[in-house]
Amino acid sequence: MKFFIDTANLDQIREAHEMGILDGVTTNPSLMAKEGIKGPNAVMKHYRDICEIVDGPVSAEVIGTSFKDIIEEGKKLAEIHENIVVKVPMIKDGIKAIKWFSDNDIPTNCTLVFSAGQAILAAKAGASFVSPFIGRIDDSNWDGVALIEQIVRIYNTQGFATEVLAASIRTPLHIVRCAEAGADVCTCPLSSITGLLKHPLTDLGLAQFLKDATGLQ
Ligand code: G3P
Repeated sequence: MKFFIDTANLDQIREAHEMGILDGVTTNPSLMAKEGIKGPNAVMKHYRDICEIVDGPVSAEVIGTSFKDIIEEGKKLAEIHENIVVKVPMIKDGIKAIKWFSDNDIPTNCTLVFSAGQAILAAKAGASFVSPFIGRIDDSNWDGVALIEQIVRIYNTQGFATEVLAASIRTPLHIVRCAEAGADVCTCPLSSITGLLKHPLTDLGLAQFLKDATGLQ
């Protein structure tokens, strides 16, 4: 399973990259706004900065919702860097745009996916990635990981090439369960990635080893 980081914060992207386990980055308009990035030039520069840190897919989301606007915006985003993946919302014009991008060799990430039916449409249109938001599904009292399992099963049965990118990850356990469910990618906040490191027995064991090692020096 690939690890993407779900943030537009350059320090956090650098920190995850320095761990040596980072395969890519996802962003969205909320995450960009959180970093105080304003105006088309600043947005373009920020994506360029991210692409310089990580050598892997970087999802950049369109704001337009009509076919024409999505295509226009997506083409500009794709020109920033060869690793840019155009992130397109799960709406009718979005699906039409994903098909256009796919026919024109521009990779896409279909976002805001909450059902298996939506995931089938995204794959039919030729999306490179599909992003089911598992944390938000859990928030609504459904089971986010169960949706990942279902989409993985459908894609395997049907031979769809679209990669299942588990998004809206909130906890380290989400990452473990998505890995178990067969997700191709998990996009996570840094806290969930570093949360995987933690176990009290590791801390206790290390403290003991370090204490005993003083006798060896
Ligand atoms: O990748 C999508 C993600 O950014 C949404 O996360 O926590 O806002 O549901 P969240």
